[in-house]
Amino acid sequence: PEATLVGPGGFHPLVASTFSSELTGVKLPPNFAWGLSASAYQIEGAAKDEGRGPSIWDLLSHRVPNQVADNSTGDVLGQHYYLYKQDFARLKTMGTPYYSPSISWPRIFPFGHGPVNEAGVKHYDDVIAEMVKNGIKPAISLFHWDTPLALFNEYGGWTNRKIVDDYVNYAKFVISRYDKYVPVWFTINEPQYCNWQYSYYPAGTYYPSYGVGPGLKARFLCGHHTLLAHAKVAKWYHEEFKGKGKITFKNSGNYFQANSTSEADKVAVQRSYDFVLGWFGGPWTDGDYPQSLKDTLRDLLPKFTQQEKNIIKGSCDFFAIDAYTAFYAGALQRGSLKDCTSNSSYPGYPECAATSSSDPNGFGIGPGADLGAGWLKSTPGGIRKFLKAITQDLFPSVGEIMVSEFGFSEPFESSFTNIQDALWDLRRADYLQGFMDNILMAIHHDKINVTGAFIWSICKFCLVHDNFEWGSGIKTRFGVQHLDYTSLERIPKASTFQMLNWFKTHGGEF
Ligand code: NOJ
Repeated sequence: PEATLVGPGGFHPLVASTFSSELTGVKLPPNFAWGLSASAYQIEGAAKDEGRGPSIWDLLSHRVPNQVADNSTGDVLGQHYYLYKQDFARLKTMGTPYYSPSISWPRIFPFGHGPVNEAGVKHYDDVIAEMVKNGIKPAISLFHWDTPLALFNEYGGWTNRKIVDDYVNYAKFVISRYDKYVPVWFTINEPQYCNWQYSYYPAGTYYPSYGVGPGLKARFLCGHHTLLAHAKVAKWYHEEFKGKGKITFKNSGNYFQANSTSEADKVAVQRSYDFVLGWFGGPWTDGDYPQSLKDTLRDLLPKFTQQEKNIIKGSCDFFAIDAYTAFYAGALQRGSLKDCTSNSSYPGYPECAATSSSDPNGFGIGPGADLGAGWLKSTPGGIRKFLKAITQDLFPSVGEIMVSEFGFSEPFESSFTNIQDALWDLRRADYLQGFMDNILMAIHHDKINVTGAFIWSICKFCLVHDNFEWGSGIKTRFGVQHLDYTSLERIPKASTFQMLNWFKTHGGEF
């Protein structure tokens, strides 16, 4: 059925633009890519259907106690796998020019490699055809964390270099099949988290995802293999499909603000960036990891051969950032390798470079985001500073940047019992609009070449089910639509109307 946009109580766009006078008449550049985003495991459901193989997330959500805060799984959710036609009809009525989902590797290759699952391929043939029929351009992620479980069992998943060839095989299969419909490819979603698998460690021992000991080593090994996998696919894509579309990977990252003006705190900011964005941005812009990673991690950081460096350098057509939060960073008294590997109260690595807490001037503190699930409060101002930091300070050779995800998790939504409260999501509406205002300011005043922005996420399966938010389960809510879990109806929230109005006012191509 054709979806219609009827808001509850017939409300209309709500919140005045923060920069209203400065942005009057200011338009987005032509062809600005915008739309909604999502990923296979987080919205499809149908986890056991039509030949899909299990992924590490089936293991993590079903078998690892407390891996998912509320013990939810991606088994069913909003059944996007079956209801994609109605979801795309809705996108069509919204007029979003793009949609950015991921394809599930274990639906195509249930064992990671080997036989192709024809039912899975047929499914994505239909999905892509339906998008195209509705005038929606796909911006596709090839891998959004759902590593085929078979590859984890067989050789340890992303910790083993063998996965590079298996990933390349899968990626080539998908790109070759859909290249003519897909103008933007994301090879890997946030490789910073590719070692999710290591929250489950063989022999029944659980390690923290960001882990100490074997977890830390695994983290950098996984990262290394994602870079090689991405680079091989990008090289092939550039040779085979010259100029047809763009390819890159999506980064996770935070804006870091120095605790003070001291030199030591400035250095801490740089180290924090190095360990999050430089880890992956260094190799493709400069050909290698940042020096601070090499000095701190020594043998824990794998090395590239010269030939690998040559393939990785220049492998991205633009920088893609998923932007949600900001932190303060300051110098630590300690800061040795020992701190990186043995600090179990705060396992992981940016902490061995810097302390961090939320930043009142960035996206960091403001009216929203889900503290309960560990999300910091958010205001949208930080994105402008972050875009500047990435393109001007950290990676000056980057000519183009997209915000491949931004979104707002409403902290109280899971406790709402009245649908009107969920639909009247003014804080999300305000945040998303403020965020786009800041992107527009970055384009017009800071002259940054921002070419797209994708809102996370298409749906929030509110009241009962939501998009599956990995470790926080279904209680962390980002969506601009409400889902009635009984009827599976998707109902746009106020934030949907606000965003459509924003894009209409600012020339977002419909
Ligand atoms: C980043 C991830 O790509 C996505 O899977 C996640 O749901 C959102 N950000 C929100 O946390």
